[in-house]
Amino acid sequence: MSEWDALWINGHLATMAPGDAAYGTIEDGAIAVSDDRIAWVGRRADLPGEAAGLAREVHDLGGCWVTPGLIDCHTHLVWGGDRAREFELRLEGASYEELAKAGGGILSTVKATRETPAEALYEAAVPRLQSLMADGVTTVEVKSGYGLDAENEAKQLSVARRQGEAFPVDVVTTFLGAHALPPEFAGNTGGYIDEVVTSMLPQAHARGLVDMVDAFCETIAFSPEETARVFDKARELDLPVKLHADQLSDLNGAALAARYGALSAEHLEWTNDAGIQAMAVAGTVAVLLPGAFYQLRETKLPPIEGFRRAGVPIAIATDCNPGSAPVFSLLLMVNMACILFRLTPEEALAGVTRNAARALGRADRLGTLEAGKQADMAVWRIDRPADLAYRIGFNPLVSRVKSGHVTRVS
Ligand code: NIG
Ligand code: FE
Repeated sequence: MSEWDALWINGHLATMAPGDAAYGTIEDGAIAVSDDRIAWVGRRADLPGEAAGLAREVHDLGGCWVTPGLIDCHTHLVWGGDRAREFELRLEGASYEELAKAGGGILSTVKATRETPAEALYEAAVPRLQSLMADGVTTVEVKSGYGLDAENEAKQLSVARRQGEAFPVDVVTTFLGAHALPPEFAGNTGGYIDEVVTSMLPQAHARGLVDMVDAFCETIAFSPEETARVFDKARELDLPVKLHADQLSDLNGAALAARYGALSAEHLEWTNDAGIQAMAVAGTVAVLLPGAFYQLRETKLPPIEGFRRAGVPIAIATDCNPGSAPVFSLLLMVNMACILFRLTPEEALAGVTRNAARALGRADRLGTLEAGKQADMAVWRIDRPADLAYRIGFNPLVSRVKSGHVTRVS
């Protein structure tokens, strides 16, 4: 009786399911898949028969480890142009805020993204996506926010959607119209927010391009009141929200996000105690972005111990974007989360699996190796799960399984 489509044996599982075992470890485990779902997970010794008779295909893991497919829950993957010159200027002493105020920063990417046709944006984003996938990523969140008008926001989101259709990866799209004030609205922030809530967001949503809504609540971007207007509209449209909050200053962004029941608040370097408590009560995930922290040479650490003590789940992401985080490796972020933010390797790995799924509102089907979940897995030639955090610039991925389909890496 070949009951399952495929079965993996002779390796170890870091299921990342909550419980007593570190990493949800099952040594000498077995995992079975039928269609796009995980059908069975457990100790090989507990399989209901001989492996060969249980599945149409049996894969020998040869002692490798299996984790859930990694989830990059915060990226700005689709953009035009680059910001290498800005990188040089920052190395010469200019700050991220100064460049933004002078019309560089995000606005220079807006100009380039508007000028780039959809097809070219798509082609430019392919190697970025492939780089993330090469690290075992099976789900990527992609934000808009470099179009800043109805047509160009939709262009960015459509490119992201098309990537999810063309590659074995789930793409979750986020509308980030309130990312920066476009030049045609200079001096008229209220007018731009009107445009976002009455036209841009409803239009993108009506075209089926929006899974979630985000905003940049910051002194160089939008105030808490302006952010709240965007969130009110999202609520009206029944769309979940998340927030770029407290990155460069403390505007009580985390508490604002929590007040709207946000799935996540992100960056959070300046988050205060009230924000932490509000997030804990609302179940809002803290998405930490060590790549942006590193690239901007930030010195203010997010309040990790406060999040731990309050039981706020912590996720880790690349923030892949051309300015604050030209980061194309989620594994590197796992290492940086440990070194820069002092997460344990287990916390960092939960941050790119279980808690990242939660930050996307998909914890019911992604993020752990448990029966019933989508069969998204990464197979690694490592001796222990902590190896994924320990090495820098070394990729031990052997194969990637997306919705039950195997892609061999070499
Ligand atoms: O997450 N903080 C705001 N937005 C992005 C930066 C985008 C950019 O610099 O182009 C971020 O860091
Ligand atoms: Fe970001």
